[in-house]
Amino acid sequence: MGERVDLGRERAASRADEVLDALDTDLVGLTPVKTRIREIAALLLVERARARFGIGSSRPNLHMCFTGAPGTGKTTVALRLAELLHRLGHLRRGHLVAVTRDDLVGQYVGHTAPKTKDVLKRAMGGVLFIDEAYYLYRAENERDYGQEAIEILLQVMESHRDDLVVVLAGYQERMDAFFTSNPGMSSRVAHHIDFPDYTGGELEAIGRLMLENAGYRLAEEAVPVFREYLDRRREQPRFANARSVRNAIERARLRHAGRLMADGGEVGPEELTVLYPEDFLASRVFSGR
Ligand SMILES: Nc1ncnc2c1ncn2[C@@H]1O[C@H](COP(=O)(O)OP(=O)(O)OP(=O)(O)O)[C@@H](O)[C@H]1O
Ligand SMILES: [Mg+2]
Repeated sequence: MGERVDLGRERAASRADEVLDALDTDLVGLTPVKTRIREIAALLLVERARARFGIGSSRPNLHMCFTGAPGTGKTTVALRLAELLHRLGHLRRGHLVAVTRDDLVGQYVGHTAPKTKDVLKRAMGGVLFIDEAYYLYRAENERDYGQEAIEILLQVMESHRDDLVVVLAGYQERMDAFFTSNPGMSSRVAHHIDFPDYTGGELEAIGRLMLENAGYRLAEEAVPVFREYLDRRREQPRFANARSVRNAIERARLRHAGRLMADGGEVGPEELTVLYPEDFLASRVFSGR
């Protein structure tokens, strides 16, 4: 019998499961996202086995597009993805370079190419995460320097496929419009992953997870108040999903600390960890009922 590859052993050796399991436990919901990332991990393990037998030769295209509203976990997942791709041998370094239009596009003639190339150089061996990628393209302005950055990106996405993964992130509709005006970019992005808004239940679970990780918990009476806070906050402008939950908790921590200091006196672990309704009720979210 010829040589055989034990996929289970390869998988264990890569320590990819540590990243995949952490993705499962650290992030609430996002089931389709997690499934897709597992599929990509399987693809890379199988690709490595194929390469051992000399089957095929082209590395898979892993450039991606992450669509979703602010605070739905796009940056967080991209970071984990970078580490995963590193463990699976696809990326040399596995770091993440997050940029927006201003990091790539210059204000004057001749400034864009060096800026874009510098960013690409920093990102080599890792993931280049371009937030709100559609701002690179301005339909109303033919001489916009963004087009120059796009062209350099397109070239590198093709020529350095095995050393750089580009993730374009932003709102779904704008991203669709961007791809329609930039077919070259569209054809180079193989994976489209959508990050839906979190449900009320998911936001609450995210909040509880964040509290637990920070060493706090809600008093029983604070549970419905926190829920009500989230319901109200969701209806307000600039709601940013999990990021808004994180900010709410940061402010509750401030009020909690202020309350303890105002009381003065002795405290123990109980007082130092439990958040009460007033720590949330003082928020502007509750004013003007
Ligand atoms: N599903 C989740 N479970 C737990 N925490 C989460 C989840 N999604 C996001 N977070 C946390 O919420 C915060 C915001 O997430 P992140 O920055 O990844 O969102 P984003 O989609 O990149 O947002 P933006 O588009 O505004 O950059 C981070 O602190 C992250 O850890
Ligand atoms: Mg982000």
